[in-house]
Amino acid sequence: RRGSPLAVGYGDGEMYLGSDAIALAPFTDRVAYLEEGDWVEIRRAGAVVHDETDAVVTRPITVVSASAFQVDRGNYRHFMSKEIHEQPEVIGHTLAHYLDLSAGTVRLPAEPSFDWKSLSRLSIVACGTAYYAGLVAKYWFERWARLPVEIDVASEFRYREPPLPENGLAVFVSQSGETADTLASLRYCKAQGQHCAAVVNVTTSTIAREADVIFPTLAGPEIGVASTKAFTCQLSVLASLAVAAGRARGVLTEADEARMVAALGDLPGLVLRTLRLEPQIEKLARDVAKVNDVLYLGRGANYPIALEGALKLKEISYIHAEGYAAGELKHGPIALIDETLPVVVIAPHDALYEKTVSNMQEVAARGGRIVLVTDARGAAENSVATLQTIVMPDMDALVAPIVYALPIQMLAYHTAVFMGTDVDQPRNLAKSVTVE
Ligand code: G6P
Repeated sequence: RRGSPLAVGYGDGEMYLGSDAIALAPFTDRVAYLEEGDWVEIRRAGAVVHDETDAVVTRPITVVSASAFQVDRGNYRHFMSKEIHEQPEVIGHTLAHYLDLSAGTVRLPAEPSFDWKSLSRLSIVACGTAYYAGLVAKYWFERWARLPVEIDVASEFRYREPPLPENGLAVFVSQSGETADTLASLRYCKAQGQHCAAVVNVTTSTIAREADVIFPTLAGPEIGVASTKAFTCQLSVLASLAVAAGRARGVLTEADEARMVAALGDLPGLVLRTLRLEPQIEKLARDVAKVNDVLYLGRGANYPIALEGALKLKEISYIHAEGYAAGELKHGPIALIDETLPVVVIAPHDALYEKTVSNMQEVAARGGRIVLVTDARGAAENSVATLQTIVMPDMDALVAPIVYALPIQMLAYHTAVFMGTDVDQPRNLAKSVTVE
């Protein structure tokens, strides 16, 4: 094993090699994970593992839990659709490990190896969708915990070799826990003496094993290449961590914590209600499937949701899409707007709503076709003509980025279905990028 993950599967009179337990699931549930530099001799009856110095070593055989094997599509046409619909359940399941709802407090599943109070800075490093989860978390940690946050995509971070302060915390967000650039960044941060925490979905992964502390997302196996339920579970975990940090650093009061925990506890129900918007979004997808470009706009913690919306759409439908901070509209993308361009505006009625509406007016004045994703109040107060308004349930602003991820996932999914693309395995993309 060098760089990419490798696992040995123990069968009955037969042995297997694969990248992880899911790949081996059809054959066996008994799996040993090789360490970096290991090599293995395989015979029908068993395996002998050697480390990089050629010494014979033992790598424990784990029996993988049955839930890790729930990898069939059930009644869904695609894994992506199944995974979108699993979100109420997996978000609830994840939060149950982070919140004490009856006490109204955050209760982390792992004792952090650092003290939130004395942290000098938080660095968040990730790739793809996980990076956007980190970008939302930047807003949360800065606002609720007054903790300075730097965030970068792992491929830049690792070669940028940024100076890192004493008593800094680095958080690595990854569904697979195997992304090569994220892992390399973790090793860099460790060498720089940072506390290293991993928010991962696969707790047996390399990133999980090398981090000082693991905060698992309990999304279950995610098969669709385009990440959906892992993303909202990452956000749920990061939100819980940010509240814990805010409390420990004395920024949030006990009452703040109780209110925020209650808001997080509402997530499964809110996500379920949002799924009911699917028929409306499916209809909208028919129109989106006919265009060449789509622009997504958002502000504040919902700006990364605009970025994620564009990423989802381009990944699986191959329609060109871009996400922008709404305030940046006039610094470039406004030049693209004509009557053919759909502009998806993520704008719950929060403190930034008025600002986003003024950006929407600029789009409308140039004939752009607006899809407004807002709540009842946002819809009632908007006077700009829209192609469609998607009315979300009312919710606390802090959970909006998590719930507003749903409509953009469903829009990408149905557009791709209309386009006839391979939704679960889009061209040129891989689920785990274990090489540079
Ligand atoms: C690939 C996947 C994305 C994912 C990214 C990061 O590009 O297609 O869906 O967001 O890798 O993967 P990770 O496993 O580190 O979250």
